[in-house]
Amino acid sequence: MKPAFVFGTRPEIIKLAPVIRAFLERGVEPLLIHTGQHYDYEMSAVFLEELELPPIDYHLEVGSGTQAEQTGLAMIKIEKVLMDERPDVTLVQGDTNTVLAGALASVKLKIPVAHVEAGLRSFDRTMPEEINRILADHASEILFPPTEEARKNLEREGITENVYVTGNTVVDAVLQNAKVAEKKSDVLERFGLRPKGYILITAHRAENTDSRENLERLVEILENLPMKAIYPIHPRTRKRLQEFGLWERVSSIENLIVTKPLGYLDFLKLEKNAFAIMTDSGGIQEEAITLNVPCLTLRYNTERPETVEAGGNVLVGLEKERAMEYLKRLIEDEEFYRKMANAPNPFGDGKAGKRIAEILLDLHERGELRIKGSRFI
Ligand code: UD1
Ligand code: UDP
Repeated sequence: MKPAFVFGTRPEIIKLAPVIRAFLERGVEPLLIHTGQHYDYEMSAVFLEELELPPIDYHLEVGSGTQAEQTGLAMIKIEKVLMDERPDVTLVQGDTNTVLAGALASVKLKIPVAHVEAGLRSFDRTMPEEINRILADHASEILFPPTEEARKNLEREGITENVYVTGNTVVDAVLQNAKVAEKKSDVLERFGLRPKGYILITAHRAENTDSRENLERLVEILENLPMKAIYPIHPRTRKRLQEFGLWERVSSIENLIVTKPLGYLDFLKLEKNAFAIMTDSGGIQEEAITLNVPCLTLRYNTERPETVEAGGNVLVGLEKERAMEYLKRLIEDEEFYRKMANAPNPFGDGKAGKRIAEILLDLHERGELRIKGSRFI
């Protein structure tokens, strides 16, 4: 069997690594296609190295651009590779422009698409990611929702065949790497941080960073933190902070360490030892609950509602008062802290990668890895 993986950004590399590994363990060498949506060393190559992935077969060097430029160029380049290679299935993960491009290019060549982390919905169609998720799910033949809730979203849209709830591969990645991170990373010493003595912050969502008004609200939150904090800044956010003249303000906040994006092992160690995490990232909401760290999400909705329902995540948006109220409660109310930290993990047992590989190998063996005529008859 010949599976092709199409990926291009930081979270896709991290979350697909366990699936790639599972295929390798079964003696199947997958074809690896990197669109180059992320291209800085610390946004891409560092993860390929740390996760010890096999060499990439195709580097497409799509790079940055407008939504259509990036998606369109990725489609054109992915199509060429898929036409030459004719894999049995194309795997994509998540909701980036790379995912949409990979799914569309593949399904139109009649190569079935398997969508890892299918069925997530924020129900906010102003997010580029929401459009990507919906379209990628409908272009896919085999769907791997991480949770029952995600499966129900697919069902509501009429997708019921070849749907397998697997858990989220984020848990596999955390379990496979947390111990290595604990041993190998010296990130706490490097930044002078004490375990449970700091807040870890990330923010990069377009809706938080692309308008000056919203970005300034984020900066105001950073200026009012009640505890030492560290903020590895995504290149998108760095660029916007500079553009809107907010960079000086952020870098001069006392008690806030600002740094470039970190490798996965450093970042995992920072997450595990954080007092709390504040983020607008999808993957980091999942990792926080997996690592038993309270999470305050800098958004007004989430496509990971399971984390909120479980009690490990609170949506605080860009509301300074609300964010401060929850931080204060976490600091002052031990029982509340314990409850958030001990929220049950809704994302499975860390064997999602293996399940996904097994299901695809089995479908292939039975001659079922093919595009069916219609979904709705
Ligand atoms: C993308 C995904 C988002 C995901 C995030 C993971 C889409 C629509 N968005 O957002 O869902 O959460 O990746 O991190 O696909 N840049 C660099 N170096 C890089 C990459 C980007 O400097 O290696 C800068 C460029 O100025 C670029 C900007 O960041 O224009 C945004 O990059 P892009 O890939 O378009 O979107 P992300 O914000 O990274
Ligand atoms: N991450 C990392 N270094 C960082 C920030 C994040 O290794 O400086 C990892 C993090 O552990 C998670 C993933 O990147 O696995 C999340 O990526 P991101 O927040 O960019 O994307 P999202 O999950 O929101 O799509």
